[in-house]
Amino acid sequence: MTAHVAVLPGDGIGPEVAAEAVRVLDALGIDHSEHPFGGNAILDCGVPLPDETLAACRSADAILLAAVGLPELEGAAVRPEQGLLALRKELGVYANLRPARAEGIDLLIVRELVGGLYFGAKGTRDDGTWFDTCEYTRPEVERIARRGFDLARDRGGRLTSVDKVNVLHTSRLWRDVVVELGAADYPDVPLDHALVDSFAMTIVNAPGTIDVVVTENTFGDILSDIAAAVTGGLGLAASASLGDDGPGIFEPVHGSAPAIAGLGVANPAAMRRSVALMLRHGLDRSDDAARLEAAVDAALTDAPTPDLGGDGTTSQMGDAVLRALTA
Ligand code: NAD
Ligand code: IPM
Ligand code: MN
Repeated sequence: MTAHVAVLPGDGIGPEVAAEAVRVLDALGIDHSEHPFGGNAILDCGVPLPDETLAACRSADAILLAAVGLPELEGAAVRPEQGLLALRKELGVYANLRPARAEGIDLLIVRELVGGLYFGAKGTRDDGTWFDTCEYTRPEVERIARRGFDLARDRGGRLTSVDKVNVLHTSRLWRDVVVELGAADYPDVPLDHALVDSFAMTIVNAPGTIDVVVTENTFGDILSDIAAAVTGGLGLAASASLGDDGPGIFEPVHGSAPAIAGLGVANPAAMRRSVALMLRHGLDRSDDAARLEAAVDAALTDAPTPDLGGDGTTSQMGDAVLRALTA
């Protein structure tokens, strides 16, 4: 049976970079279908994750997601981003791999994706207080820590666990679980711990000293944008969101970039690197993944887009990738 990929182009620059990803799927002979998701789905049918889209995602072998978010819906009661969070939760993709590479830098952030502040109790009390709650259970921390240790072990590396144990109650659980798991099952993997505030500075000042990082949802969201910034920007940063079984979601770290939407200048590299992560982690096609990654690297110097200081368009960079891929 051939693999089927559900493509969710989303909003803003999403459809522009998704189109470039689809060209790669076609070149590799991978079957795909597109589905409404995010702001466009809210405007069309009132919800960001229509039932039809969720069903298509569940039955796909992998999901390729570009970006969601519309300025006119920012902070609204029904928001595009709720669809993204619901999709991650529904598919149980708790491990979000966010690699960042550049000359002398090769780090991997493993972000917990379906817990913490994003999914804890939230609401408004009678006294007018608004609240969000950071919540974790031991099994939720253990499974993401295990993922971090496995990934560090696979690449013969080290694991840094990032928390805020000097302040947060949930960080005490986080650190205990990581320490216990390391001692019990991963004595061969060097482990250290860092506090999130100073670790943010380490990413800026000494990114080359960092290997594999495991951290909770909100910290991972923020730290992965910093890691992207020190390795060439959001136009380059890809991610893979994985559970224990079922399809993974493969998505750039960036958002819908409304300011450049429709101009044809969005950098499609993050999206195509997400395709490469999908080939490796979702479709068991590591050779094609490596070829695509090399093709993207070549295109960055061939036809750089404005975010990289060049004047290439989205489709010119797209052409350059396809040329390198099929050469
Ligand atoms: P953003 O990532 O969309 O943009 C941040 C900056 O990076 C902007 O200057 C943008 O122009 C630039 N940028 C991003 N991707 C680029 C690309 N491929 N090529 C060139 N430049 C690129 O973040 P934001 O502005 O904070 O958020 C905009 C919207 O996107 C919001 O609605 C937010 O909720 C949403 N968002 C969605 C996702 C997602 O779908 N996974 C991720 C982050 C933000
Ligand atoms: C990301 C995005 C999302 C997140 C938003 C759009 C819900 O910022 O994937 O990094 O916060 O997880
Ligand atoms: Mn983010």
